[in-house]
Amino acid sequence: MSPRIISINFDKPDAHKLSVYEASGGYGSLQKLFTMPPDEVIEHVKNSGLRGRGGAGFSAGMKWSFVPKDTDKPKYLCVNADEGEPGTFKDRKILQLDPHMMIEGVIICCYAVGIHTAYVYVRGEYVKPARRLQAAIDEAYAKGYLGKNIQGTGFDLDVVIHMGAGAYICGEETGLIESLEGKKGQPRAKPPYPAVIGVFGCPTVVNNVETLSALPFIMNEGWQAYAKLGTEKSTGTMLFSISGSVERPGVYEGEFGVNLWDFIERSTGGVRGGRKLKAVIPGGSSSSILTADEARSTYLDYESIAAAGSMVGSGAIMVLSEEDCVVKALEVVARFYAHESCGQCPQCREGTYFISQIARRIENGEGSMEDIEKILDTCPLLMGVTVCVLADSIAMPAKSYIEKFREEFDQHVKEKHCPYRSAERKSAVL
Ligand SMILES: Cc1cc2nc3c(=O)[nH]c(=O)nc-3n(C[C@H](O)[C@H](O)[C@H](O)COP(=O)(O)O)c2cc1C
Repeated sequence: MSPRIISINFDKPDAHKLSVYEASGGYGSLQKLFTMPPDEVIEHVKNSGLRGRGGAGFSAGMKWSFVPKDTDKPKYLCVNADEGEPGTFKDRKILQLDPHMMIEGVIICCYAVGIHTAYVYVRGEYVKPARRLQAAIDEAYAKGYLGKNIQGTGFDLDVVIHMGAGAYICGEETGLIESLEGKKGQPRAKPPYPAVIGVFGCPTVVNNVETLSALPFIMNEGWQAYAKLGTEKSTGTMLFSISGSVERPGVYEGEFGVNLWDFIERSTGGVRGGRKLKAVIPGGSSSSILTADEARSTYLDYESIAAAGSMVGSGAIMVLSEEDCVVKALEVVARFYAHESCGQCPQCREGTYFISQIARRIENGEGSMEDIEKILDTCPLLMGVTVCVLADSIAMPAKSYIEKFREEFDQHVKEKHCPYRSAERKSAVL
């Protein structure tokens, strides 16, 4: 059994309420927090090895340490609750089932960095989770965990929810900042990084919901307890959103370093209907695909998945069975990225659309062998050339889907139809 840190309260009735959270020790870390100098808190979090759970996996403590200390500008925290990556649905669980754990994490981060205003940027479609979070914020204010002079310590902190408007690109940290400032959600060139010039031109920490939710455990139990879990470089646990052809899709917490397929099978009951495993997409729609053999022999941590040619990303694991079509998967993913490209970089604007059109053609049985090569030729032109990595996010999967499942692409072209599509699915396809 994997230890549960983030999801420990998920099964408790009314876990979203302050009384239930407090009864299980919630907000207990604050007593210790306010006795520690802020720099010591940053060191503590650095030592824990906690890495960002929004996708990039960057050290949380390290990021906080980049925020200038000798500035007379206000500093801000932006909590990234935009959660738009297809297949990712774990932050929603936290907001809905245990919002106080995240709020406690927000207090820890803000105290450590010297922040007095935190914005929670919530995905526009997350109306219910946002309501839950607002109710929790209201409870925290009423009990003196937020607001002026928190728990008589002299530390002030306001937390404000900002609803997004349904754009995936606003999950990218600088797109989020632009959107929060009331502008079009288009990413900024980096550097400067938000830690130095972020929202309203001020130093800003951007952290994912789950990253912040790990902080109460780290403060309560000590960084050593957290660092002991997982592997040397991938410490602790992570929430994985598992979807696709599995018996029980859902959000499961796993300790880093376990075998990837064992974890999926143990958590979800394995491939739906006892079918054969075809492939696993381990880190969201932007990650490269792993074959069944690779998924069985790879370990679930940042380094092992990277060594297998993919990434942990936001922890969105998608499983394909022998009856699922890889070409269709590419068509769906490419259509998503073409739709969500913000359009400011030509390579992304045109490239995502180009790949999506070709993938659709092949899936519909109207593609040629040359079309497959066209996708492969386009991928390198999209890598590392744009303001953010949205273009890379289609290039990486597209290249890997074709390279690892070339025969499926060829079969679509030769047979002039999708071999996985039944008659009724054929008429339902877009
Ligand atoms: C296109 C794109 C979309 C992203 N969407 C999200 C998102 O929905 N949620 C999130 O936490 N991070 C997202 N990120 C990553 C953020 O830019 C940023 O790295 C993250 O919020 C930092 O928090 P962390 O260090 O706690 O992971 C996205 C990145 C890109 C390039």
